[in-house]
Amino acid sequence: MALLTSVVIVVLALIATAFYSYVNEHCPIDPAAVHLAPQPKLEGVYARNTLLENVEKLGEGNLVWPEDLVLGPDGKFLYVSCAGSGWIKKLHLADHSVEDWQHVGGVPLGLALGPDGEVLVADALQGLVKVTDEGVEVLASEVDGSKITFADGVAVDRDGLIYLSDVSFKYNVSAHWFEFWEGKPNGRLIVYDPKAKSSRLLLDNIYSPTGLTLTKDEDALIFTENVVARITKYYVKGDKKGTMEIMNENLPGHPDNIHYNYDEGVYYVGIVGQRSALFDLIWKTPFLKKLVMVLPEAVRLSLDAAARTARLLIIDDSGRALRQYQDPDAKAVGIVTGGIKVGDYLYVSSMKETFVGRIKL
Ligand SMILES: *[C@@H]1O[C@H](CO)[C@@H](O)[C@H](O)[C@H]1NC(C)=O
Repeated sequence: MALLTSVVIVVLALIATAFYSYVNEHCPIDPAAVHLAPQPKLEGVYARNTLLENVEKLGEGNLVWPEDLVLGPDGKFLYVSCAGSGWIKKLHLADHSVEDWQHVGGVPLGLALGPDGEVLVADALQGLVKVTDEGVEVLASEVDGSKITFADGVAVDRDGLIYLSDVSFKYNVSAHWFEFWEGKPNGRLIVYDPKAKSSRLLLDNIYSPTGLTLTKDEDALIFTENVVARITKYYVKGDKKGTMEIMNENLPGHPDNIHYNYDEGVYYVGIVGQRSALFDLIWKTPFLKKLVMVLPEAVRLSLDAAARTARLLIIDDSGRALRQYQDPDAKAVGIVTGGIKVGDYLYVSSMKETFVGRIKL
């Protein structure tokens, strides 16, 4: 009996070892343990609501994966970056018609409006792109000799100085799951000076900076660190120049685009996914991440199903959550990447839909 037990134990140990090496050998990434700060309780500001279930679908079918929005200079239309088709389109607010404006190719993500009405685009594949009525120009595709691999967020100050985020020096947008699941500070911020036509590295060793904006005084950049569910501030001027502060690390999901609303003095942040105890455990256990990566893709996709939930969060200057707009079961709109308020309406962008959502506030 004792012999049989020993044999069984040895066989099980061999199987476990073989399984362990199989997972380690076949995992395409080298995941890190990511310890997230505590999740907020789903009460108060974070209590479930269904405000985004009533979105009107603008330009439906014609705005493929509208990742980001920016108001045009005359306030009468939105520029929309269509990540799924490579177009920057105009969505006219009066009649909701969609105009094909400029085709940038690539995967256009973050948008910002420059001081002369030019549109700056963070194109995941091409880098920093400038778009005007006249055409499309790639301003920067590398920084200090290294390729900009996965441009995502862009911000521009009053003098025209442009800031760009590169989610990862390692993985491009097609491999964004690898970046997300690996969980390493592969991201960086870049500054581009249009007068000198040169880019330089501003900050590196940060986690997947998907969204980027400037504070009202333009003394600091605020960027979302998607993978670690955190919003961080980095000073670019004044006494605190070169220092970093965490604004909010207790988010219910992973922050994407962030936009400053000048009238209200608050930030609008798209939050992708819904954190859970299971996800927090997987995040801090590299072997579990490897396991998910070697199992059939359906396993990861079912885990990611929680990512479809739609949430736009409003935070103040100190990072405190003020309110949120949700479609928790993605009934009308899923994967909301950001939003802006124009007049009495809230417009939301999405990496899943083919329309821009709008609700009356
Ligand atoms: C993106 O990365 C993948 C794998 O790392 C590579 O196969 C693919 O060619 C890259 N795509 C582009 C457009 O560079």
